[in-house]
Amino acid sequence: MALLKIENLSKNFGALKAVSGVSFEVRKGQIFGIAGPNGSGKSTLFNIITGVPFSATSGAVWFNGQSISGIAAQKICHLGLARTYQRETAFDSLTAYQNIALGAVFGPGEREATGAATLEERVCRAAELVELDRARLARKASELSIFERKQLMLASALVMEPKAMLLDEPASSLTKPEIAETIRIIRNINARGIAIVLIEHVLPVLLSLSQRLLVLNHGEMLRLGAPDDVVRDEQVIAAYLGKRGARDAEAA
Ligand SMILES: Nc1ncnc2c1ncn2[C@@H]1O[C@H](COP(=O)(O)OP(=O)(O)OP(=O)(O)O)[C@@H](O)[C@H]1O
Ligand SMILES: [Mg+2]
Repeated sequence: MALLKIENLSKNFGALKAVSGVSFEVRKGQIFGIAGPNGSGKSTLFNIITGVPFSATSGAVWFNGQSISGIAAQKICHLGLARTYQRETAFDSLTAYQNIALGAVFGPGEREATGAATLEERVCRAAELVELDRARLARKASELSIFERKQLMLASALVMEPKAMLLDEPASSLTKPEIAETIRIIRNINARGIAIVLIEHVLPVLLSLSQRLLVLNHGEMLRLGAPDDVVRDEQVIAAYLGKRGARDAEAA
């Protein structure tokens, strides 16, 4: 059974069809990649799946066998679907620790929480999994580097103990060593059985992690399949990768 099922999802902004007739399934524990040119509707797709900050014009979203179309965002979190944002988003005046602890409010709720862990244990476990060191936890979010803010955003989502995470460009604006660390962190999160839907422009990240790859273009599905097949597709090369990008993708 699919953990996340997207059916014919669309979002219009006036005359603009930002997302148009998108359908796919993500299985339990899978890493599902999404690529596409700037403005092709990737972030809008995450927005309408989670209802933050707006819901879809039409179509349906199913999570763990239940329809989540149009339901409250906090309810979606409680059911086990968490997300991060393209821009590093945190409460700047709070410490990293406080930011992560706030995320715990949106945790399992009626679902079973893992064991009898205290809030502090849950926060530290999430921070450890994203390799955010303890000294950073006492710092205000505003004092952290871009990479640390990305780690913080991941930890704030992880502390909800999700079954699936939607990650919007976790590797953007990072250095090569930070990108390598991000790949390792995403692998470690996935190794806990958490399914990942990953939007990314950094192709080596997308290709080294994804088991399935969807390419969007002008809000529509251009190609969905095995990553190796998708990056060789003529239409994908023409619309997104270009010849050089395709060579880089082959090398990745
Ligand atoms: N709130 C909004 N109101 C009006 N138009 C919007 C809104 N959000 C997004 N759009 C438009 O919808 C289209 C898709 O935008 P979206 O941010 O989803 O693209 P993207 O694939 O995430 O791009 P990028 O790779 O640059 O992040 C764009 O034309 C964008 O201008
Ligand atoms: Mg985007």
